[in-house]
Amino acid sequence: MEFEADIKPDDSIDDIQEVVNYVRALHFGIKRLRELPMSLRLIKEVHKILMEGVRGQHRRPGEFRREQNFIGHLSGTVQKATFIPPPPDRLEELMGEWEHFLHADDAIPPLVRIGLIHAQFETIHPFMDGNGRAGRLLITLYLAWKEILTHPLLYLSFYLKANRTAYYEALDRVRKEGAWEAWLTFFLEGVRQTSRSAGQTAQEIIALKDNLIQKLSKHPETTLTVIRLVDLLFAKPVIGTKEAAEHLEVTAKRAGQLLRQFAEEGILREITGKQRYRKFLFQPYMDIISRGT
Ligand SMILES: Nc1ncnc2c1ncn2[C@@H]1O[C@H](COP(=O)(O)OP(=O)(O)O)[C@@H](O)[C@H]1O
Ligand SMILES: [Mg+2]
Repeated sequence: MEFEADIKPDDSIDDIQEVVNYVRALHFGIKRLRELPMSLRLIKEVHKILMEGVRGQHRRPGEFRREQNFIGHLSGTVQKATFIPPPPDRLEELMGEWEHFLHADDAIPPLVRIGLIHAQFETIHPFMDGNGRAGRLLITLYLAWKEILTHPLLYLSFYLKANRTAYYEALDRVRKEGAWEAWLTFFLEGVRQTSRSAGQTAQEIIALKDNLIQKLSKHPETTLTVIRLVDLLFAKPVIGTKEAAEHLEVTAKRAGQLLRQFAEEGILREITGKQRYRKFLFQPYMDIISRGT
């Protein structure tokens, strides 16, 4: 959010660019689903956006690989690979079947199906790079396509990162032992934990908004503009005077006053340390959404 508000953030710019790409690619995919079915074509388009200007950008973004790849340590050699995905000349056939399974009309429940789809995708490893990122994005995209999610709000990446060893091991065991149940148990547990925590976050955000409005309504000088500023902050939790003035349709002077007033109340925190072009952060909101990240 700081990055989008033109503030130089503490985090590495590459990491931020990856997150920004993820969000862009996901929204692109959801929009594109109105014109295209869930398909290899769509996935390639999403992959291309996902890889723009980030690690792996020169390794054929948006195209399936034409070379043999292997999974293992970054600096490792093929001899030390933990797994060697199928050769490139079989990709078309395998991904064709994979696409077919995506659309299959059988009794497998969608959450189970996407768990299977994810494991197969990572095993086939169709791209030279970005298979992890694309494969995780696909989970949310698939559930949105199936209208199980009305908004793309399921973000499994934290769970998979926090349990990375178990994640890789479960994928390995699928291939070596056909341990599908263990993989699905691990995957569905992730869906459960992630959904619960997202639900909780949503409730906390609603409560924060209610409390703020209630608290502010006690001031006799609270105007409609003040209430609209509260609304605005939930959409733009990092904000400067000019932007606030535009959105609230008030003068820059008035917007500045309001932001300073909110800062005095402890709702906002100034984050540039400058006297001019100041930016404010909606701290209580950030505290909620950054928890556990
Ligand atoms: N042993 C494994 N078997 C299958 N897939 C694996 C294994 N280990 C890692 N992966 C998958 O491969 C991904 C890494 O592949 P890569 O193409 O480099 O993606 P990214 O660049 O997005 O991290 C991991 O995130 C994981 O999903
Ligand atoms: Mg990679």
